[in-house]
Amino acid sequence: MSSNDGRIPVKSVTSFDADFDVIRDALFTHQVLVFKNQGGTSPKAQYELTRRFDPAATSYGHGKTIDAKRSILHPDLKTIPHQPQVQVIGNGFVSEYEGLKDIRLKHPHHKTFHATAIPAQDDLDFTRFYRWHIDAALYGLAPPVATTLLAVQVPGGRRQICRYDDGTGDELDVPLGTTAFVSGYTMYDLLSEADKEFARSTKVEYAPHPYIWISNAKSCSDGLGLVSQGQEIPLSDLPPIEEDKIQILPLCWRNPVTGKLALQVHPSPVRKLHLADGTVINDLNKVREIVHRLQRPGIAPKMVYAHDWKEGDFVLFHNRGVLHSVVGAFAEDEVRLFRQCNVAASHFPEGPAEGLAAA
Ligand SMILES: [Fe+2]
Repeated sequence: MSSNDGRIPVKSVTSFDADFDVIRDALFTHQVLVFKNQGGTSPKAQYELTRRFDPAATSYGHGKTIDAKRSILHPDLKTIPHQPQVQVIGNGFVSEYEGLKDIRLKHPHHKTFHATAIPAQDDLDFTRFYRWHIDAALYGLAPPVATTLLAVQVPGGRRQICRYDDGTGDELDVPLGTTAFVSGYTMYDLLSEADKEFARSTKVEYAPHPYIWISNAKSCSDGLGLVSQGQEIPLSDLPPIEEDKIQILPLCWRNPVTGKLALQVHPSPVRKLHLADGTVINDLNKVREIVHRLQRPGIAPKMVYAHDWKEGDFVLFHNRGVLHSVVGAFAEDEVRLFRQCNVAASHFPEGPAEGLAAA
């Protein structure tokens, strides 16, 4: 209906609901959505949209660990004072942003986390996936449904070759500082029928205080899980463990719109596998080998979407349907400023069948 009475049309709450339904359906169908030219989005609006995927959720997705300084997540995050669910991440020195003053951001570099590193003389041209992951505390809090990322400032456009360095020769040409995404649904679909059956019927147990537990451990060269060198922190040296916060989750999570199964495992903090017949695999080396074998086909170069960030890009991704990774190495004077938000969900993901979902 057209209106010629000169008033500025005001959207009703109902039409905002309809807009959100379109976004929600698109997200659960395509897993990663890019909205261009959204640089004016306030931290509050970012939080509101992120939270809307689970209105009962309120807290920050990674949770507060008792001993946050020991966690591997600690150095990468700075919180916006007036919207603490939104964090600033990036690289370089920023004198003022949203109430944060004189902050020094550091883009993670694989040499600080991988067991091996690209030689310094090749570091400008070559890089690696830093760490394939799901945004999740994996202890106590349920994995967030969605994550939003806003590119506020992006340094100019060189490219790098992302190497897997795993003997396969796999590599991928990527924009500097890309965020790489792979689909958990594709990862599942690529499995043999036997492995699909295994994935549907197996659960993964994550370590207590997972990001402290692995704080001395090192990553495989493809960023997909850790090498086993006995570097995990003994459980007795972790902060006090609350048994009921330890998470045993299905390997496959069901999409709430399409019903499809995604192989969704955070490979770094996995500790045990619980098989359908009651067997528990707790040999860490074996657990990691199994998870890596299942996941590796899903991160092959042609399976990766490497987003080419432009200022104002607002990316919304389905955290329960994709794995993602930071990529790239910036020079100290290359300033990059991003805002990130996710909130721990009010419910755990649904598994392949009734009764398999985590408690
Ligand atoms: Fe992340």
